[in-house]
Amino acid sequence: MTDVIQLDGVEKVFEVRRKNGRRLRRERKQVRAVDGITFSVPRGEMVGYIGPNGAGKSTTIKMLTGILTPSGGQVRVAGLDPSRERTRLARRIGVVFGQRTTLWWDLPLYDSYRLAHRMYRIPDDRFRANLDRCVELLDLGELLDVPVRQLSLGQRMRGDIAAALLHDPEVLYLDEPTIGLDVVSKAKVRTFLRDLNKERGTTVLLTTHDLTDIEQLCERVMVIDHGRLVYDGALAGLHEVGGSERTLVVDLERELAPIELADARVVKVEGPRQWLAFPASASAAPLVAKIAERYPLVDLSVREPDIESVIARMYADRGLH
Ligand SMILES: Nc1ncnc2c1ncn2[C@@H]1O[C@H](COP(=O)(O)OP(=O)(O)OP(=O)(O)O)[C@@H](O)[C@H]1O
Ligand SMILES: [Mg+2]
Repeated sequence: MTDVIQLDGVEKVFEVRRKNGRRLRRERKQVRAVDGITFSVPRGEMVGYIGPNGAGKSTTIKMLTGILTPSGGQVRVAGLDPSRERTRLARRIGVVFGQRTTLWWDLPLYDSYRLAHRMYRIPDDRFRANLDRCVELLDLGELLDVPVRQLSLGQRMRGDIAAALLHDPEVLYLDEPTIGLDVVSKAKVRTFLRDLNKERGTTVLLTTHDLTDIEQLCERVMVIDHGRLVYDGALAGLHEVGGSERTLVVDLERELAPIELADARVVKVEGPRQWLAFPASASAAPLVAKIAERYPLVDLSVREPDIESVIARMYADRGLH
């Protein structure tokens, strides 16, 4: 498999000027938004790119589109240097910034698509086929004649996703494509993206704060923090890195003092039910055996750590809160 996205030691430093307190002197400050990032994405993969606010996710995506020029390192997308060959690259990538639309605000949705048709010189049959597919799968039929500014956020987002795909891009960057969407719209967008990736082999880089997006769409996830890549691997592996815990929920015959065990600790007691936390990497079997031996056990279940709390702990451990 060939890598369609390649970053090698990529940096982006912003020079910011800010007023220094009450004094009127302006101070120059450097912000290292992206601080030496190396990764590659093989063709056809769908990768999650997550991290706390201000971590450098959008800045990375902007360098991958050519909107921003890196301060250091090398970026290659589909064999091109994005900032030097931005126009050529534009025909091969699609971008959705959830926070900002690329559609024409005052024009009906369909007019933005017609402009894209001409701008990217999309062959008529491809344009038709892609538009029909998006209209059907993203429920855009009723919306094509509506000026973009009248669309709801969820409708506009679906419109933006369609706009990013009319020219058959090989690579799709999605920067928070489900932000502010209701549950039904989110599900629709996720299904659409999964099918697109599977059927067309489109490579997708997905940034989101909704971890359900990642759980449902990406096997691989990269975590960025303060401009640095702190994790790159399987979603499941985050549990280990995050030092997460599983929970044993134990029902006893009656209310008892908290269970005492060396390798698990009681985190909650409610009547005869007790919750015991233990390292996610450990096996539950020996714990269960010990409890059954010493306590009047009626029932039990094991709860997996949810990814939400794993990530929260991971960010917190790194002193981000
Ligand atoms: N044009 C700019 N000029 C100066 N600083 C910038 C600029 N763009 C981004 N930054 C700074 O770079 C850092 C990374 O910003 P970025 O937008 O990439 O974060 P993010 O990971 O996308 O965050 P969020 O989850 O909030 O969208 C932040 O500290 C931000 O303030
Ligand atoms: Mg961002």
